[in-house]
Amino acid sequence: MSEILYGSEIAQTVKDGLKKELDQLRLQQKRIPKLVVVLVGDNPSSLSYVTGKEKACSAIGMDHELIHLPEQTTQSELMNVVQRLNQDAAVDGILVQLPLPKHLQEREILLAIDPKKDVDGFHPYNIGRMMMQDPVYLPCTPKGIIYMLETIGLDDLSGKEAVVIGRSNIVGKPVAQLLLNKNATVTVCHSQTKDIKEVAKRGDILVVAVGKPRLINHEWIKKGAVVIDVGVNRDEHNKLCGDVDFEDVKDMVSYITPVPKGVGPMTIAMLLENTMESYKRRENIYGI
Ligand code: GUN
Repeated sequence: MSEILYGSEIAQTVKDGLKKELDQLRLQQKRIPKLVVVLVGDNPSSLSYVTGKEKACSAIGMDHELIHLPEQTTQSELMNVVQRLNQDAAVDGILVQLPLPKHLQEREILLAIDPKKDVDGFHPYNIGRMMMQDPVYLPCTPKGIIYMLETIGLDDLSGKEAVVIGRSNIVGKPVAQLLLNKNATVTVCHSQTKDIKEVAKRGDILVVAVGKPRLINHEWIKKGAVVIDVGVNRDEHNKLCGDVDFEDVKDMVSYITPVPKGVGPMTIAMLLENTMESYKRRENIYGI
């Protein structure tokens, strides 16, 4: 039996919990956690992601601000914005939407974000903490994927083969690390992998993040696999679709995430959770 794994529903539960905490903070007239999103230029996908993040903050009552800078923003202007946000005591989370326009040095910007406010989990400090299995902020999409696996009882992945297709810094590499931290035997495939379908077919868990509409059909899938589709693409009819050919594989899997309503909403929920976590640490709620 196949089941559709709706990230949208799991994300709603996470957001409901956060909303309760925020309502409580308001009742107690405490400072409210704040997320600032920085967007440079007008990349349509980025605009749509950023709008989703803003709406999610509004829905749960988290403070938020969008700093939308023009395409021609210089490296030093963007660095100044990041440094101002680092110093602003009212700001708990800073997210610089990627990809940045080509003339900007992404690496220098990500390094400039205070790791304590790095709710994206992209600063090398936070990536290092993840590698050492002592995480502070995990990258949102990988964290959301692991959260979804936990909701279907996949907590300890001992003895399971996990195959990740795609090796981006945002999804492929960190999700592979998190799967490894859960004791899975992990293989990362990419454009240079030989016999990639055969490798993919080994996966009890298959995570796909390549950005190619419906690349993955039944030939890539082990029967009964859990398939996590991170792709957000437009097909030839401009219809939203994933990297997996959902209709072609859905009857042979045990679970599959749809697009939309799959991984995307989980990413946003994890971002809100990370921002709440940053708030608690900054307010010293844990006494550490
Ligand atoms: N672009 C695509 N996904 C992400 C993300 O999770 N964070 C940021 N900052 N940019 C992205």
